[in-house]
Amino acid sequence: MGATTAIVLSSSRAVHKLLHLRSANTSDRPSIHFNNITTGGLNLILSPYNSTWKSMRRVVKDMLTHDACMASLPIQRAEATQLMFDLLEAPQAYYTHIRRYTNSVILAIVFGIRCARYEGTIVDEFYEVQRLWADNLEPGALPPIDVVPLLRYLPERWASWKGLSREIRKRQRNLYFRLVDRSRRRIQEDRRNGCFMERVLDHQEQYKLSDEVLAYTGGTVLDAGSDTSAAFLQSFMFCLVASPEVQTRAHREINEVVGRDRSPRFEDFENLPYLDAIIKEVNVMTLHQDDMLIRFRSTDSDLLPQRGSLISPYRMKLLMVIQFQKAV
Ligand code: HEM
Repeated sequence: MGATTAIVLSSSRAVHKLLHLRSANTSDRPSIHFNNITTGGLNLILSPYNSTWKSMRRVVKDMLTHDACMASLPIQRAEATQLMFDLLEAPQAYYTHIRRYTNSVILAIVFGIRCARYEGTIVDEFYEVQRLWADNLEPGALPPIDVVPLLRYLPERWASWKGLSREIRKRQRNLYFRLVDRSRRRIQEDRRNGCFMERVLDHQEQYKLSDEVLAYTGGTVLDAGSDTSAAFLQSFMFCLVASPEVQTRAHREINEVVGRDRSPRFEDFENLPYLDAIIKEVNVMTLHQDDMLIRFRSTDSDLLPQRGSLISPYRMKLLMVIQFQKAV
């Protein structure tokens, strides 16, 4: 934080007000150089407000409505069934089973492609590049190129992150463009399967989306939903193993409400308050992984004393630090 002024908010009501009720003014992002050179600023989650961000967000919003989520339930159910089978067959590979599940759900919803296996498939290819991408976005992974812009001009022999950025860019683009092409080819060959990308392609002109923006919009959703959901499920499993008494109680609740002949369905959820509570508890424990990465920037000088103040939510809605410093 250096010599900047910082305010720490420890009232959940105040944090809720700023991050939720005034979110339009407090959800901009500071510029991240590594994101700019790797994605050309086209990662929806990490990029600052601008006209491209707006059109990408308009597209994604349609995908995340309540109705769209409910329509994707059969895909989620089918993939969850395979996940349970895989876990029973080869429990030692739980880590990759979960990763396959979360990535395949989103691949199927967005691009109409599912991956029944991990090794040698798109899932494998995605997580391989995602590892490089996410590792280098972590605070401290790179020299402070956002705080000391001069470092960006170091020759490559002292700045290995430049070559890494090129490698990630090449691999991400290769994957994202290929996925969009497969949807486009299905439309041309009259083999639609109703995935989200087909609908976006139908309205590409109306949305005024270039092929590049389209590819990154789909790619960002893969990026946003795969690792996050996998990390949650892996933590959830870990917590249940570490707390057998909680596991037994949740199991008993499922047996009482759902019975032993079928898996729980979405409609059962309101009758499973204990399960609901432990899911929320694990969510609170795992959410701060994203807090480390995602920082917000204010666009309003009425709300906070200085426009461009950086906002670092720690454990979303519980505590946050506001830094009065114009972002670089
Ligand atoms: C446990 C799982 C997940 C966690 C912890 C998580 C976390 C987050 C966080 C912290 C943000 C930033 C919110 C903000 O700007 O205030 C975000 C945004 C986003 N997430 Fe997730 N996410 C999860 C699952 C998913 C899934 C499954 C999808 C897609 C199917 C998804 C798609 C997105 C998108 C598109 C955005 C950007 C939304 C926007 O800018 O309006 N996320 N997520």
